[in-house]
Amino acid sequence: MLTVAVLISGTGSNLRALLDAAADADFPARVVVVGADREADGFAHAEDYGVPTFMVPWGQFDSREEWGAELDAQLAVWRPDLVVLSGLMRLLPAGVVDEWSPRIINTHPAYLPEFPGAHGVRDAIAAGVAQTGASVIIVDNGVDSGPIVAQERVPVLRGDDEHSLHDRIKPVERRLLIDVVRRIATGDLDLAAVAAATGAPS
Ligand code: GAR
Repeated sequence: MLTVAVLISGTGSNLRALLDAAADADFPARVVVVGADREADGFAHAEDYGVPTFMVPWGQFDSREEWGAELDAQLAVWRPDLVVLSGLMRLLPAGVVDEWSPRIINTHPAYLPEFPGAHGVRDAIAAGVAQTGASVIIVDNGVDSGPIVAQERVPVLRGDDEHSLHDRIKPVERRLLIDVVRRIATGDLDLAAVAAATGAPS
């Protein structure tokens, strides 16, 4: 059984989908802990399933490195097989990425390498593109620049705003995330092999 730690900042709808999937006895992974950089609404989903939570408040640390060290210490308690960044809106310091890579993945609401960063949906709308997408990547030390493990296109419809487009991207993200976690758990997807093939550290 693959053990998963999920890190969030917000509503945690992708977390919810993963928790729902993992509630199926046949699903080969379990969420063992949920962490956040703030008092995130998504903690409620963890509580619904009796999954422990931890918070490492961004504002209480003097530097990204100190914050990351505490985050890393919290993760180490649970020794997860996989760390999923699911809406964590903070860049991890290199020390944390290097510690967990390649067993650390991120969901992103755009078809990377298009529209990386904190405003992937807004940037796609502003660019006036006809299609954007959703991606799951291995986290590296850049901004949404790691090896892509899954992605799918989502059309931008006439009249879409950031919210309507994000609402259509999120179900695709959820499906990709659940599928990626399942494939990692079954051995169908080897993150170390993906990282090695793209020259990323493993
Ligand atoms: C998701 O769309 C996720 O991809 C995005 O935040 C949303 C979180 O939604 N993350 C990023 O944009 C990271 N660059 P959720 O809290 O409802 O799961």
